[in-house]
Amino acid sequence: MANPSVGFVIDKIKHNPDYNGLFEQAYGKPVSMETLGSALASYERVLNSANSAFDRWYFAKDKQVFSDSARRGYALFIGKAGCASCHQINKAYALFTDNGLHNTGIGYVASMSSAPASRRVQLAPGVFAQVPQQVIKAVSEAKLGDLGRYEITQDPADRWRYKTPGLRNVALTAPYMHDGSLASLREVVEFYNRGGVNNENLDSLLKPLHLSTSEIDDLIGFLQSLTGANAGQLAGDGVAAPVGNNQ
Ligand code: HEC
Repeated sequence: MANPSVGFVIDKIKHNPDYNGLFEQAYGKPVSMETLGSALASYERVLNSANSAFDRWYFAKDKQVFSDSARRGYALFIGKAGCASCHQINKAYALFTDNGLHNTGIGYVASMSSAPASRRVQLAPGVFAQVPQQVIKAVSEAKLGDLGRYEITQDPADRWRYKTPGLRNVALTAPYMHDGSLASLREVVEFYNRGGVNNENLDSLLKPLHLSTSEIDDLIGFLQSLTGANAGQLAGDGVAAPVGNNQ
């Protein structure tokens, strides 16, 4: 959240009059790494979204709500396209994640491809210039490495492994992947159709899928059926609280 350290955040909250006594009231102790973690986790646990077209069809057996395209997309998702091996759907619940870490090649592309010799830069609205890479480099901060799980474990086998995200409300949350490098659901499905990006640690579950254009459309139709009935309300809550010290 663009703060230099956890200690900085705790200190900031301690001296913010908005929080006066609230941590003590909720946890019986002042703000600390532990109580701040509990507060964030409690907040995240209420960010549930359900009652999507998929839920009404899959769990409530309502045949009306699910389009034929979404139904064909579901069959591909759990079958030919193999998405559900990582984005899991269970009998009693569907979180669309295995909570595991996988290398799809997204991080590999970001860290291994060399920067182009020059780049189109917008100088003012509608005014562009082709700027040589060495000029950009001279005035930018060096890009940090993006090595995924490896950054924690230092195990070479963990290079470019990232956690499988859940897919609820995914139609509303472009751009995609941990670095936002894919702009649309179509780009994501086309990425998987190519089998991800080959590299020495590519997950063995990713292979070229040979999906036709209409099968790609159906998979997108399925992903669009995962938007929960309360998505608007959740988004509204997110912007309802005033930002910063409003006194
Ligand atoms: C080997 C496991 C695996 C398989 C198989 C897989 N995914 Fe993923 N998926 C991931 C991981 C890991 C990420 C996160 C990658 C990243 O952040 O760089 C991801 C990200 C995504 C995202 C982006 C979500 C977001 O919020 O940014 C979508 C959409 C998605 N997958 C859909 C699919 C579809 C559709 C299929 C089948 C064609 C599929 N996935 C197959 C592991 C998998």
